[in-house]
Amino acid sequence: MRITTTVNGTEHEVDDVWPGESLLYVLRERMGLPGSKNACEQGECGSCTVYLDGEPVCACLVAAGQAQGREVRTVEGLADGDRLHPVQEAFVECGAVQCGFCTPGLLIAAHDLLARVPHPSDLEIREALAGNLCRCTGYEKILDAVRLAADRQARS
Ligand code: FES
Ligand code: FES
Repeated sequence: MRITTTVNGTEHEVDDVWPGESLLYVLRERMGLPGSKNACEQGECGSCTVYLDGEPVCACLVAAGQAQGREVRTVEGLADGDRLHPVQEAFVECGAVQCGFCTPGLLIAAHDLLARVPHPSDLEIREALAGNLCRCTGYEKILDAVRLAADRQARS
């Protein structure tokens, strides 16, 4: 089957997609967008999180055919060309990027949180990131990064 999907503002056509292929596979292996990570492939870790029509989803659980005619935004699409998004900058500055495997999913989750809740409490941050597992287990810097991004957003 052929699918046509808009990814980070650009329309992509992919041929010969088989029914069991995931959106994550198509993004990484066919479109050359390796930002979304494949860690569990079971919807457990959040490393593959992308926006699908503006809603964060686990791309490993979305069949590629479900993305037909829809809009996908990946972690690559948060940046503005070479300029990182403020949430991405905050992760770098706070040392929240450890091995980096969970980082793309956390960035989408944090970006989504700050779009919905500009001044999140610590509890709201923890709840928003609860579906994203960091195997390095250093969550404090990740929380610092989201707080910093929220502060900057409030001042801008
Ligand atoms: S790789 Fe999709 S949730 Fe873990
Ligand atoms: S930074 Fe290593 S899994 Fe999160």
